[in-house]
Amino acid sequence: MAKVEKKAGKTRIILFTGKGGVGKTSVAASTAMLLASRGKRTLIISTDPAHSLSDAFGVQIGAAVTEITHNLHAQEISVIEAINDHWENLKGYLTGLFSSQGLDPISSEEIATLPGFDEASELLYVNDYMKEGKYDVIVMDSAPTGESLKLLSFPEAMSWYMEKLFPISRTTARIVRPIMKPFSSIPLPDDSIFKSMEGLYESLREVRGILTDESITSIRLVCTPDRMSMNETRRAYTYLLLYGYPVDAVIVNKIFRSNTGDFFQNWRKSQEEIMAEIDNSFQDLHIFKLYLSKDEPTGMERLSEMGNDLYGDQDPLEVFAHSIPISYDKHDNFVTARIRLPFATKERLNLYNKGGELVIELDNWRRVFYLPQTLANKNPTAAEFNNGYLLIDLK
Ligand SMILES: Nc1ncnc2c1ncn2[C@@H]1O[C@H](COP(=O)(O)OP(=O)(O)O)[C@@H](O)[C@H]1O
Ligand SMILES: [Mg+2]
Repeated sequence: MAKVEKKAGKTRIILFTGKGGVGKTSVAASTAMLLASRGKRTLIISTDPAHSLSDAFGVQIGAAVTEITHNLHAQEISVIEAINDHWENLKGYLTGLFSSQGLDPISSEEIATLPGFDEASELLYVNDYMKEGKYDVIVMDSAPTGESLKLLSFPEAMSWYMEKLFPISRTTARIVRPIMKPFSSIPLPDDSIFKSMEGLYESLREVRGILTDESITSIRLVCTPDRMSMNETRRAYTYLLLYGYPVDAVIVNKIFRSNTGDFFQNWRKSQEEIMAEIDNSFQDLHIFKLYLSKDEPTGMERLSEMGNDLYGDQDPLEVFAHSIPISYDKHDNFVTARIRLPFATKERLNLYNKGGELVIELDNWRRVFYLPQTLANKNPTAAEFNNGYLLIDLK
């Protein structure tokens, strides 16, 4: 498998996601321990509201960055503090706006945490830390798959909102504010609010740029060798590719050793079958394997052992597999777009061109591809899945 060297001096991001309970936190914490012990300035952050980094390390970690040991800092992100850190401005405006509408203060506060506010403010930390350049690596222990996908698809959704709705509401505010002023106490957003929204939008675009750059970010899928977890991992892989995120590895955790006795015989057999399917399913990714240990891998010593078992001589900062971006093949009178989307099927897919944007809907996930100028007026006329690729003819 071809390996990409990381660009010298750049902060790396390694993000772990997967089904609840498979070992994301343990794997993230052990990766961070290993990196710190090998001299990398490491920050581990948890974006899972059900934080368990403190439990894993056996050290109290707060919403602020806390030093755990030499070279290792940690943070359990609190959404409220994240909003306060990044969005004081906007929250103040919304609170004012809603209370002027006769909504009581408590619900104003609640409304101020509109959908997306938490995702956005968490992502902004990534931007902060990348800019600070204090760390060689940021390890992200994220929420279970669905929540993480919501987080990672947020910049895309936000950019849709900003490009489609925002210009309209900004113009409306400009026209309406002078007329409304004498009559109403409704505080229309002034230009500073719009400026702060634009700034926010810019930052989120930067975060998306960081998280989709394979020389910076590697997303690693943690699973256990059972069917439910494998299926969820397959779906997560497809959706992450749909959004252009660089996945480079799968970590199969909690594998039974051969000496686990008769009682676990059936489990061992089914684990072996599922592992063969996992090997087969994720051929373009690196697959790490970790045995179930005899007790809970908590505390720094146990996490260090786990890190060594996981990576051995390998460098966790290595990029273990290339991600495959969208490409276009030219034919005589049409172009075929090729997007890597393994495990997807046609029945779950919806495609159309909307004003020069190719919209792909898969299950509940929607991605908008901005078509190159030369293709902006072409429509999808045919689509098929071939060897894990979605091929779309644009005519
Ligand atoms: N390889 C392993 N062997 C034994 N126990 C493990 C292993 N990996 C994780 N665990 C335990 O499984 C439980 C769930 O792990 P955790 O890392 O919290 O998962 P997640 O973050 O995915 O919910 C924890 O009690 C953890 O200590
Ligand atoms: Mg966890």
